[in-house]
Amino acid sequence: MNKPVRKAIFPVAGMGTRFLPATKANPKEMLPVVDKPLIQYAAEEAVKAGIEVLIFVNGRSKRAIPDHFDKAYELETELEARGKHNQLELVRNILPPKVSAVYIRQPEALGLGDAVYRAHAVIDDEPFAVILADDLIDSGSDGALKQLVDVYSQERCSVLGVEKVPMSEIHRYGVVAGRQSGEQLWEVEGILEKPKRENAPSDVGVVGRYVLTPAIFDFIKETQKGAGGEIQLTDAIAALLSKERVVAHELQGVRYDCGDKLGYLKATVQYALKHPELSEDFHAYLKDCFA
Ligand code: UTP
Repeated sequence: MNKPVRKAIFPVAGMGTRFLPATKANPKEMLPVVDKPLIQYAAEEAVKAGIEVLIFVNGRSKRAIPDHFDKAYELETELEARGKHNQLELVRNILPPKVSAVYIRQPEALGLGDAVYRAHAVIDDEPFAVILADDLIDSGSDGALKQLVDVYSQERCSVLGVEKVPMSEIHRYGVVAGRQSGEQLWEVEGILEKPKRENAPSDVGVVGRYVLTPAIFDFIKETQKGAGGEIQLTDAIAALLSKERVVAHELQGVRYDCGDKLGYLKATVQYALKHPELSEDFHAYLKDCFA
């Protein structure tokens, strides 16, 4: 496994039921945090980690994400005619020229494992990343995925992004069993999807960043429906452990679960407070709100 991590899968075919009706005609990954949709934050994070091929696994409302990353001739012509050069730059340079985008369809939302499997022919025989764009991670200039890619280049095995989560929320995560082998590193010995609190092997929960070896596809193929009646990536990772070493890396940064209304609002407030155009006025506004 000497190949670099060049490809990333973005599963964007979930139902987004926690955000209905906003997600009725639009994937939740198109929800904006201040002025950028979640999927663009995720794509930028991937590019910073050295990813060259972005693979989007789309569901119903399949147009919005390709349209976002595509050239928008009419809009660009209008902006140019009106002399709006800053805005023109914003819509023109969404992805750097050396990065390509591939779109795949997941006809039914059968689960994250199924969504990832849909990309296997494009991944072929290379290690790859998976980014769940609804987990927005604010982790400084390099981005969260770069941390996992760096661990992969040292350890040469699958790497799961994890964080310690409150036990009261543990039933919402894939939870790792294992032993800590470094300051931020765990040797994974088992992994359980959405366990009850009393069955959880630890408080170390998997968040939406992975680097996986292509061996995972053989195991997803064999994976039956699990928690929530869905084909779970976590169950395939549990099976992968019979064949390969898997490690977990505790991500540095602040994560916002933007698939959840409260998490999304927290992200919006924090990103607005840091936004160069808004910061000052928004600080003042919040102060007034709580005066
Ligand atoms: P979630 O379980 O958070 O997404 O999936 P969901 O099902 O859309 O959300 P709720 O619970 O109904 O509100 C995690 C990620 O996996 C993708 C989602 O788009 C999200 O990025 N996903 C999930 C798929 O692409 N396909 C699926 O079949 C399931």
